[in-house]
Amino acid sequence: MSHTIDSNRVIIFDTTLRDGEQSPGASMNLEEKRRIAMVLEELGVDVIEAGFPIASNGDFDAVREIGRTVRGATVAGLARASKKDIDRAWEALSGAARPRIHTFISTSPLHMKYKLQMEPEAVHQAIADSVAHARNRCDDVEWSPEDGSRTEHDFLCRCVETAIKAGARTVNIPDTVGYAVPEEFAALIAMLMNRVPNIDKAIISVHCHNDLGLAVANSLAAVGAGARQVECTINGLGERAGNAALEEIVMALRTRHDNLPYSTGINTEIITKASRLVSTITGFVVQPNKAIVGANAFAHESGIHQDGMLKHAGTYEIMTPESVGLNRSTLVMGKHSGRHAFKEKLKELGFDLGDNAVEEAFRRFKDLADKKKDVFDEDIVALVDDEVGRSNDRIRFVSLQVIAGSRGPQKAELELQIDGAVHTTTAIGAGPVDATFNAIKQLFPHEVRLQLYQVHAVTAGTDAQAEVTVRLEENGKTVNGQGADTDTLVASCRAYIHALNKLLTKRQKTAPAALSA
Ligand code: KIV
Ligand code: ZN
Repeated sequence: MSHTIDSNRVIIFDTTLRDGEQSPGASMNLEEKRRIAMVLEELGVDVIEAGFPIASNGDFDAVREIGRTVRGATVAGLARASKKDIDRAWEALSGAARPRIHTFISTSPLHMKYKLQMEPEAVHQAIADSVAHARNRCDDVEWSPEDGSRTEHDFLCRCVETAIKAGARTVNIPDTVGYAVPEEFAALIAMLMNRVPNIDKAIISVHCHNDLGLAVANSLAAVGAGARQVECTINGLGERAGNAALEEIVMALRTRHDNLPYSTGINTEIITKASRLVSTITGFVVQPNKAIVGANAFAHESGIHQDGMLKHAGTYEIMTPESVGLNRSTLVMGKHSGRHAFKEKLKELGFDLGDNAVEEAFRRFKDLADKKKDVFDEDIVALVDDEVGRSNDRIRFVSLQVIAGSRGPQKAELELQIDGAVHTTTAIGAGPVDATFNAIKQLFPHEVRLQLYQVHAVTAGTDAQAEVTVRLEENGKTVNGQGADTDTLVASCRAYIHALNKLLTKRQKTAPAALSA
């Protein structure tokens, strides 16, 4: 493959499902990863890094499933510089239409000495061996020197040259600890372009972390210096302060094409959908003033700005909300809408549900339409999100009656179906949410830690659905549950039960003996 030095096309490598999932609390199950991968494909990313197959069975399954499902994008699996890691990644990628093995090893003095406890010569040899081994398995191999931005230049040049000679088609330079600043990082890429003799045989990629808030700036500076792949994540999810945000990279390239004459294959109108899905699944709220996807990114509050906007949108808007898929909430259907129209709407919103799930979603839509005057697309999405993949749940919500208010004690009367049988209980608590969660614990005794309880309104208005996220932790493993309803307490109960069911599935996979409640 020849280097794209003359081309202005930047390859977008999304690592939401790998580096993004490494954010504490952001763990996702197989179905959730599959849904995100589907949206990434719709978004038009070139490469989806689906996981680190040797790290866990969950990661292995995700890479395998996504490899089998995704057809348009390349699917990458991460591997350390060992045959075992690489073979496991290759096994996971066996059904992929366009597989890529991404192998890495640390090259900075600090990492080699303390983390790897290896001499530079041994690291150099490991690069030659691991990349050659990966190339024996797969045509498309990417190599990364971890902590590349803090690697000594002569050594980095030697390592890059060796990786390319051994068959790496993409060489990715990570700023692993988010230490670089734009000019310096651009100079590093330019140095590699100038000094590595076989650099034209590979695409140079960058992978920037956001510890100093410079991940996007560093990535764009690197593109200016010759990098033609950018590794990034939706909403900037990722280790510690996260990775470069995909939406910011892509919209900067599009909006400032005059200054940054590069293009991507991204369908920018899917950005908002992807952002919302990742936020809902992980429970990581997007800060309101976050660029591109924050709730205020296109809001104009001050009178002067609103006046300017009315006269000419260009006065205060450098991109249109439509260009990132942010449309005014669309009124979908009312209580007279039929099954057929509902099914069509599900298709339009990107859901592909089995007959039973459609029936259940339709029943809930009718309930909602009875309670809520206007039903929007967002309502349907929240409602279906609350339904998808839950047919095998051991614990199912039946009904909830809560006494709340200032006099107390707050009391919850709860009915749940557990393993097919309906159980009822009454519990009190310090507030209605506490009473509801206590009632769940009475019906299904368990010891877990509630790490996060978060509510947000799906649409405007006091009749809006509440979408609740609950994060539970058990033995260091976390799961997120979601629930939606016009009653915040019902949504809370659904979210808690969702998380609990996920924890039970997780326990079942790791230790079948621990299944009793
Ligand atoms: O940050 C990093 O260095 C990484 C590598 C595995 C590419 O995530
Ligand atoms: Zn990283």
